[in-house]
Parts: sequence; C-alpha cells; structure tokens
Amino acid sequence: MIDSKVLNSPIRWAGSKKKILNEMLNAFKPNKENYIECFLGSGVVLINVLKNNDKLNYKNFYVNDINSNIINFYKLLQKKPDYLIKHISELVKVYNSYDASEKEKYYYELRKQFNEEKALDKKSILFCFLMKTGFNGVYRENKAGKFNVPFGRIEEIVINEEYLGELSKLIKPVKFYNLDYKSFLDEMKNDGKVENSFMYFDPPYLPDDLLVGQKQELYTNDTFDHRGFVDKIIDLKSKYVMISMSDSKQADDIYGGFIKNSMKETLRTINPVKLFPSTEIAFTNYEIELKKEE
Ligand SMILES: C[S@@+](CC[C@H](N)C(=O)[O-])C[C@H]1O[C@@H](n2cnc3c(N)ncnc32)[C@H](O)[C@@H]1O
Repeated sequence: MIDSKVLNSPIRWAGSKKKILNEMLNAFKPNKENYIECFLGSGVVLINVLKNNDKLNYKNFYVNDINSNIINFYKLLQKKPDYLIKHISELVKVYNSYDASEKEKYYYELRKQFNEEKALDKKSILFCFLMKTGFNGVYRENKAGKFNVPFGRIEEIVINEEYLGELSKLIKPVKFYNLDYKSFLDEMKNDGKVENSFMYFDPPYLPDDLLVGQKQELYTNDTFDHRGFVDKIIDLKSKYVMISMSDSKQADDIYGGFIKNSMKETLRTINPVKLFPSTEIAFTNYEIELKKEE
C-alpha cells in the first residue's frame, strides 16, 4: 500500500489534491498500460503517481490541461531544466531582496510582462513566479484572457533547485497535451490508448448550487458542463475511471450513475488511526479494493 511522503508540485495551486493523495492513489486501479489524466492542474497527482509507479505499475503517461501555461511549464521542466532553474532562481532572488512595497511593484510589473510575453519559455518562468507570489495560488483570467490575480503578499519564496532537477527526470516519460478535454479524450480513444488504461479526472469545481458559479471562475472563464462531461466518459467505454470532487447534492445528481466512494471511509479502513476530516469523494466505475498495510 502507498503511504509515503507526498511530493509537492512546483506550481502553487489553490485546491490541489495534495491532502488526500495517498488515499486516492491506493484506490487507483494499478497495472494498466496507460495512465491518463485530463485535468492536470498543478500536476501534483501525476508527480506522485510517477513517484509510486513501482506499486502502480503503469507503462505510459498521457496528461492534459486546457491551460497552456501549465503544459508549457512542464514541457520546459522536462526539456530544459537548467534554463528553467536558472531563470526562476534569478526572479526569486530579486523578489526576496525587496521590501514589501517593492515586492508588490515587482509582482505587477512581472504580471504585465507575462500578459504581453510571446516567447513560451519566458512565459513559463513568469507563470511559475506569479503562481508563487499571487493571491492564494489562484489562476484566473479576465474576459480578454489576461491573468488578473492580485498580489499575494508573500514575504519570501523558496525555490528548491535540486528538487526541480529531480522532477525533471521523474517526468521524462510523460506526454503532455494542451487540448480541451473532449479533443484529448477523442485522441486517446482513436489511438487505442483507452482500452488498457486507468483514467483519473479532477474536473473544475462543481458549485453546490449551479446558479452560484462564481467559485468556478477560480479556474476558468467559462462554466464547465459536468453533464456533458459525464456523457463523454460514458461514451469512452473505459473500464477504469475515477472522478474526484467534494461531496455535494449536485455531485450526487450528476454523477449518480457511478459508484460513490468516500475517501474518508477508504482511509478509515486502511488506517484506523488517521482520520481524514473532509468530504472529498471519488466516483468510480469499478469497485475499489481496500489495501492492507504490508
Ligand atoms: C480542479 S483543477 C485540477 C487540479 C489538480 N488535480 C491538482 O490537484 O492540482 C481542474 C483543471 O481543469 C482544467 N480545465 C478546465 N476546463 C478544461 C477543459 N475543458 N479541458 C481540459 N482542461 C480543463 C483547468 O485548467 C484546471 O487546471
């Protein structure tokens, strides 16, 4: 069973799945040819899948996000780690040397640069910096597609250069895609990748009350069509699918055709000492086998 220290994502991200990661990984269907994840976000799930792949035993890794900054950042980390580490460290050093008001000014200067930058490598560096120093690790764009998150008042940021180097090696086998999830899944299906796969989905926030869509805008400009998403998954005819989210009545209504697993219950059975005080749930189309401690 997986119970190791959870690795952090290099991208600070609001609402990442970090806290329930081991519980989730223990419920993943192991020993499949392909691991497919189509809402990558910070990448924290992927990173920990790779770390624990001696137990999960996947051969290929296909991951996607509609946010091009995330995908370009990971591609840069994969291909040019030295370049990324050098440039992000330079920005961090300057930032840390400033007083509070200079830090704020610097943040807004770099945010402007990011929104105007055309060169992808430079933009990826700025993206990583802005996520670290912006408000709460939130990614949000205005109607014109410009990143508009305010300054986060972070006193000091730390970049672990050695860790970034290790991550670069860890993500070597991964194929990154920057598509809308429907096109990504169509590509997976057409290439015959779905048959022998485990698919993990962490879709955009589902508001408890669909009329209150504001929180959803933390992630994207548009509201995400969860019912359309369910239809797409059913269409795939994949045998092993997990979709994670917070518990809510809306979730039950929309995802009611799947098996509902409470991560808390799973954890309780695995390790009675640790209790997970959350309402995180995972919908699956397969029965989760509860792992025992070795
Ligand atoms: C809830 S977050 C994933 C968080 C991630 N599991 C983590 O722990 O960091 C959802 C992600 O879906 C992406 N997304 C939103 N709409 C999408 C779409 N139509 N196609 C693909 N990705 C989409 C967002 O950019 C966001 O990164």
